[in-house]
Amino acid sequence: MEHIATHNRKLIFTPAIRIFHWLRALAILVLVITGFYISWPFLVAPESSDVLVQGWIRFAHIVFGFLLTSITLVRFYLFFFSRNNIERKSFKDVMSVNSWIVQLKSYFWMGNLHKSGVYGPLQFMTYVAISFAALIVCITGLVLYANVYHLGVGGLLGGVSDWLTALCGGLANLRTFHHYLTWAFIIFVVIHVYMAVWSGIRFKHNSVDSIVSGYDYHKDH
Ligand code: HEM
Repeated sequence: MEHIATHNRKLIFTPAIRIFHWLRALAILVLVITGFYISWPFLVAPESSDVLVQGWIRFAHIVFGFLLTSITLVRFYLFFFSRNNIERKSFKDVMSVNSWIVQLKSYFWMGNLHKSGVYGPLQFMTYVAISFAALIVCITGLVLYANVYHLGVGGLLGGVSDWLTALCGGLANLRTFHHYLTWAFIIFVVIHVYMAVWSGIRFKHNSVDSIVSGYDYHKDH
């Protein structure tokens, strides 16, 4: 039987964007869980003092913290300098009042969504906000790190870290700030996953599979 394609496909997400998306998702998941544990170490101390429960959890937090820091920097770079300009193109819609109205209306089932790039304007601004939240959580995390580890990277960051600590009115405030930011990620992830699934169903475009395969499968209209 002859095969007739019912859908078109278009590559929207480069392998780098997809890999960093999932690495970032993993890092955030581990950081939220280990971070809450650091904040409230609920496991009962074992008999032996040789078992470092808190130590290992802190270790995982720091390893994934450095992973998130690296990804955050690479992603800022890729946004501006990636050869694929599908993300940058979305900025055109952010500057157009009409595109905002079209997007907001489409969320209420009025009309369709027409985008210049891959993100709608509200979606774009949400990602900008969460990227800056990531930057701040990484900076405050590195300051907390530098206050404990005085050699290597910690030593290198010592001066800036003292300055930032003073700016926040002390390490306790900075730590609270780092803790509050955790909630920004939790709220973001819940809405993000919901919107990704919902918009795939609503617009029949950019479904969740696009960030796995890179392709947007859609009918030609
Ligand atoms: C999404 C990202 C992150 C989340 C959700 C997160 C969450 C948390 C939370 C909830 C705490 C406990 C604060 C408290 O005591 O109340 C914490 C502590 C800490 N975080 Fe993060 N964090 C993140 C990223 C980072 C990064 C990028 C670093 C940098 C390497 C980092 C380093 C630290 C350090 C050193 C502590 C203090 C541990 C201690 O006092 O024993 N975090 N984090």
